[in-house]
Amino acid sequence: MTLAESRRVDSAVAAYTRQFGSPPTAAAMAPGRVEIMGNHTDYNGGFVLPAALDKATVVAGSATGGSTITLHAADFRRTAKFSLKELTRDPQNSWASYLLGVVDQLQQQNVPLGGFQAVIHSDVPGGAGLSSSAALEVATAFFLRQLFPYEANPMQIARLCQRAENDFVGVPCGILDQFSSVFGIDSGLLFLDCMTLEHTAVKMGRDDIALVICDSNVKHAHAGGDYTTRRAECMAAAAFFGKQLLREVSWEEFEARKSALPENQRKRAEHVLTEDRRVLSMREAAQKGDTEAMGRLLSEGQASCRDLFENTSPEIDLLADMAAQLPGCIGAKMTGGGWGGCTINLVYAGAVDEFCRALAADYKERTGTVASVYACRAAQGAHAVSL
Ligand code: GLA
Repeated sequence: MTLAESRRVDSAVAAYTRQFGSPPTAAAMAPGRVEIMGNHTDYNGGFVLPAALDKATVVAGSATGGSTITLHAADFRRTAKFSLKELTRDPQNSWASYLLGVVDQLQQQNVPLGGFQAVIHSDVPGGAGLSSSAALEVATAFFLRQLFPYEANPMQIARLCQRAENDFVGVPCGILDQFSSVFGIDSGLLFLDCMTLEHTAVKMGRDDIALVICDSNVKHAHAGGDYTTRRAECMAAAAFFGKQLLREVSWEEFEARKSALPENQRKRAEHVLTEDRRVLSMREAAQKGDTEAMGRLLSEGQASCRDLFENTSPEIDLLADMAAQLPGCIGAKMTGGGWGGCTINLVYAGAVDEFCRALAADYKERTGTVASVYACRAAQGAHAVSL
């Protein structure tokens, strides 16, 4: 365990002991993720290139017998009780839904669960597009597997957690976030074909490139609704070509008939089809350590999100543009669902400190808002923690 990991676990254990009077018997940890390339390609059956981050969620707890679930969110000190016999979403405690969704999926698979109590502690920033939701779902699945052992391979766990979010929480996300949280590898990127679910680790061809996250600290209120609209537009565009998923539409087919598509659908489809190609090119550039190609692909990806998928925000566009001008920056683009949240910046390791300082200062001057700019490491995926 790294120092940060053991601090995270210690905090969760201390919070549990304060709350419930004795230490927990089991714990698991699952990371957030950053999407480097492959924006809104996952639910279109396309390719993604993410990394799991060294920011994670810990779920720690014990079985209690009976059928009551008692949850304590250590970071904002809320406690809520639920019954295994009647799982429902509690609008007053919406944070619990990600965990309950996983319980619900396991019950649907006839995994015999009993009552338990648990604390949740996380340093994945919430609502920033870094998959705090998936981190909680995946940590829950790994935690419950220790209390109530069940059979599932890593991809089955990722899919179960995705269904928890789709069906219980009600967010129609793809598999990118849950996949990344389960499969993360230390110091490496991940590649997934979301249609076949084939995946590989991608090792960067050079070790002097840092992942820098810049959180605009602005989230636009309509983000959830727009995600659903975009997904529907992509599905409608695929249906226009007689296909279920945009992945099945070739570039030639698209070019030949695109003028007959409604404008929104044409733009969304063009983004997804070109983004898929960018993921493959980015994978190759990363492996070769070709920073010029990486920079070009990042700025093409950013422009495609801004102009075709229309899921950036003025703050994100500004951050990406400002970052690209700074010394040591290889490239920058938006990351995650969109309409606010974060940019991902690839920066030469030696330039990171000055880059973070300058980007935060420029953004504050232009917008009056304080951004959070920090370097992250690609980290290992979800795992049980021995206490
Ligand atoms: C969110 C969703 C993912 C994916 C990204 C955009 O993070 O949860 O499934 O669609 O947006 O790439």
